[in-house]
Amino acid sequence: MVDWRIYEHPILEFDRGKEVTIYLDGKPMKAFESETVAAALYANGLREFSKSIKYRRPRGFFCAIGRCSACMMEVDGVPNVRTCVTMCKEGMQIKRQKYPADYLNPVLNLMKLPPAVYMRLMTKPSFIYKPAMTVMRELTGLGAFKKELPGPAPATMGNEGTLETDFLVVGGGPAGMQASIEAGKRGADIIIIDDKDRLGGQLLKQTHTFFSDVKYAAGKRGFKLGEQMIAQLSELPNVKVLTETSAVGYYPKEDVMLMKRPGNATLKVRAKKYLVSTGAYEKTLVFENNDIPGVYGAGGVQTLLNVFGVKPGNRGILLGTGNVALMVAYHLIQAGIEVVGVYAPSFRRVRGYFVHAAKIQRHGVPIVTRHTIVKALGKNEVKGAVITRLNPDYSPAEGSQFTVDCDFICIGVGLNPAYDLVQLFNPKMVNNGTLGGMVPIRDKTFRFAPNAYIAGDCGSIEEATTAMLEGGLAGLYVTEALGRGDEGVTTKIEEYTHALEEDRGSPFSTRLKAAIEEITVENIEEVLS
Ligand SMILES: Cc1cc2nc3c(=O)[nH]c(=O)nc-3n(C[C@H](O)[C@H](O)[C@H](O)COP(=O)(O)OP(=O)(O)OC[C@H]3O[C@@H](n4cnc5c(N)ncnc54)[C@H](O)[C@@H]3O)c2cc1C
Ligand code: FES
Repeated sequence: MVDWRIYEHPILEFDRGKEVTIYLDGKPMKAFESETVAAALYANGLREFSKSIKYRRPRGFFCAIGRCSACMMEVDGVPNVRTCVTMCKEGMQIKRQKYPADYLNPVLNLMKLPPAVYMRLMTKPSFIYKPAMTVMRELTGLGAFKKELPGPAPATMGNEGTLETDFLVVGGGPAGMQASIEAGKRGADIIIIDDKDRLGGQLLKQTHTFFSDVKYAAGKRGFKLGEQMIAQLSELPNVKVLTETSAVGYYPKEDVMLMKRPGNATLKVRAKKYLVSTGAYEKTLVFENNDIPGVYGAGGVQTLLNVFGVKPGNRGILLGTGNVALMVAYHLIQAGIEVVGVYAPSFRRVRGYFVHAAKIQRHGVPIVTRHTIVKALGKNEVKGAVITRLNPDYSPAEGSQFTVDCDFICIGVGLNPAYDLVQLFNPKMVNNGTLGGMVPIRDKTFRFAPNAYIAGDCGSIEEATTAMLEGGLAGLYVTEALGRGDEGVTTKIEEYTHALEEDRGSPFSTRLKAAIEEITVENIEEVLS
């Protein structure tokens, strides 16, 4: 029986919970209650989770944090479930979403017709368009509800009603947790929600030691820091933690946040103040075959490896030299997986911390700058990669291409702020490349809308320590805005502000600091009016 799980790790112990049996297209598979469906299927050898909607190309998972839709399958009769954020349960029935086009495309290929030809034919004359589309929609798609009427709504649906609270924190990463700790210590009534089955955000997958000299994090491993913050929160009776709870909408007129809870239940929360700390998601790269199973986000691989203890493959390469790519290379080595090389187009230097780069170089992994990938080899899964050297104008250098033998490729080329929820508060958004993309204008208290604050990666892509510090500050400013501020709060704000300045004090942070200044205003009301 295939099993890609890691049972021995130098740093981590994987508590997988109770063993259960899940079924893929009727075939039983070993799984555990603390695994996501995607992690369990991957451990059982599945690489193709879905097909692209039009060309029916094979897709593996990509982000593993519920952000990209590559892992969507039918689960217990419900189509388009993101299996990377759905926990396993005994007897769960999982199906690949197949369509007639899956069988038709190979035939069209044999006839040398492009796979999507049936999408473009029959659009003229116009009267045949409608009936033709009806037929085409049966050929392909993205899951379908059953034709028969669904049964009554689940007993829990909607009846959790509307909760009222002082402070609603959306996103339980370092930013959200630290905000809840600081505001919670000062007596505010708080609800903190996270769409995963546990709090911690990206910290839970970070096995490396934080070397920042900020006293909150220095010398601790990321996942230990996460556990410590979770323990602090559990000691605050006024902080209610809701996991497996996704904020899916904010309605300014009614001033409520709508959430989806397990069992399709919904819940509304009306808060005096909101904090959006929803983190970030990974960018991708354009190259031939970049969508086949085996091409993954570096953070996605980190989740699979360090949260669920499942090996992504036997030999991998990394693309990018930012901190996430460098750390994931190190995490793979820690788990005994071969890393062939780290490749990046950068001409000047490694983009992440030198200390991370040095660690992987000490293990004999080459960091090859001025190079990039041009193609992933393989049809249904990765069998290798073609790498090219770059000319000074970033065009591929002729005759420099070479093939690397690998069975997975990790893309670690940066993160995008997860700003979807932020936008629903009608803020003033700007596109700032240095901060990762679209971010809201805010004031120095992190307020970007009359009743909403922002902290962490969703406001500017930095790192866990800065996310924690921003979160702590936002929590304290909310405490003041709720009328609970005192001298102690003012001193603590000064302490955090100083720590944040120190953390951004290195010469490498000059551009970042300038970008933050650019989007921080004295009076947010003026910007919003
Ligand atoms: C995939 C990934 C891997 C990373 N790896 C490293 C690394 O190895 N080393 C390093 O130094 N830095 C790494 N970082 C960066 C660092 O971890 C972050 O800077 C830090 O965790 C940011 O903290 P945060 O609280 O802002 O967001 P996060 O830690 O991302 O936490 C946000 C939380 O919000 C939840 N959430 C999002 N949307 C919703 C919603 N609508 N409803 C409910 N919950 C929601 C998410 O599930 C998540 O738990 C990584 C970042 C990412 C995205
Ligand atoms: S949404 Fe599941 S892999 Fe991205």
